[in-house]
Amino acid sequence: MQVTPWKVEGAIDYNKLVKEFGTKLIDKALLKRIEKYSKLNPMLRRGFVFSHRDLDLVLNDYSSGEGFFLYTGRAPSGPMHIGHLMPFYITKWFQDAFKVNLYIQIPDEEKFLAKKELTLEEVDKWVIDNILDIIAVGFDPDRTFIFQDREYIKGLYTIACRIAKKVNISTAKAVFGFNNESNIGIMFYPIMQNVPTFFEKKRGLIPSAIDQDPYWRIQRDIAEGMGYFKTAAVHCRFLPPLTGIEGKMSTSESDTAIYLHDSQEDVRKKIMKYAFSGGQATIEEHRKKGGNPEIDVSFQWLSIFFEEDDTKLKKIHDDYKSGKMLTSELKAILVNKINDFLRDHARKKADAVKLIKQFKYDGKLAKKMWDFEKNNL
Ligand code: TYM
Repeated sequence: MQVTPWKVEGAIDYNKLVKEFGTKLIDKALLKRIEKYSKLNPMLRRGFVFSHRDLDLVLNDYSSGEGFFLYTGRAPSGPMHIGHLMPFYITKWFQDAFKVNLYIQIPDEEKFLAKKELTLEEVDKWVIDNILDIIAVGFDPDRTFIFQDREYIKGLYTIACRIAKKVNISTAKAVFGFNNESNIGIMFYPIMQNVPTFFEKKRGLIPSAIDQDPYWRIQRDIAEGMGYFKTAAVHCRFLPPLTGIEGKMSTSESDTAIYLHDSQEDVRKKIMKYAFSGGQATIEEHRKKGGNPEIDVSFQWLSIFFEEDDTKLKKIHDDYKSGKMLTSELKAILVNKINDFLRDHARKKADAVKLIKQFKYDGKLAKKMWDFEKNNL
């Protein structure tokens, strides 16, 4: 197993990652505390969001009136798939529940620096498309600032210099596995991803999948020495690819990912052909022995995101397990759910075109962030 911000390989053992990364599992007591503020969404309730750093302190800060802010991001390199949206829906839940500021970084240099063949022109083709997908999630335009690194660089670079001076090469090598062949651009990039954690003198909470956690380790080493808070984080698992629950849905494997632009027919074909099934080889055998929902990708996707209703989910689980429900029936339920979701998403994405200026420049928070003098930059 290997999990870094740029590479996820092998069967992922999430408990082992928590130990290796030094994060904490989100336990029942912590969920109970969060639930006081708003009804938990399925991703929180069913353990897809499984690990954290200092979420308890974030809740303390909120209840003492000190408050906190949210930060997350997306590095464009191509179209977004459904997995990429998961951290954004988690972030939206937190913004809705706590009514706090949210910074969304669009590092339009990261993947260019990380991937040998990728050009900046190719990255730039996807920037606006990805931003529209993100706006479609439904953030508060006055409490959210979306910025591209190469465009907002003046607001980032002063803080970046301050951080960069505190991080030496051996730390960067140890955390990210850089070597003598790594280009110096990608070695500097982690500084850029840390900058937004210094946007406010409050604790930041960062929702992302667990692959992004290495960045926060650097931040947490240096922040207090600079008079800021160690950042907090919540980590989700990876939405698995269609081919099996142990991996990560990835842009480079187009048959096993569902893209936000996939047609209804694409979705149906991909699920029917590729979604790994926990069912038996023949209908007779399935009726007799039943299926295994724990390893069935269609069931897992319903459980992670697509079936919010606990009673309905339990019925699907029980019927599938007993053999009453066939794999083809389970898959049909998922196909309908995904297609409903994508239809709705496409409508919201079309509406997002007229909101983009507000999120990037004119909304309350965006305006404040572009006022460099006020921000002492
Ligand atoms: P990127 O663009 O690779 O991914 C965007 C977000 O999606 C998460 N993610 C997934 N979540 C669930 N299932 C999957 N299969 C899956 N694949 C990716 C990522 O963890 C990420 O949260 N370096 C970042 C961009 C970034 C960022 C941030 C992310 C800049 N600042 C702050 C999180 C927080 C990146 O390349 O993400």
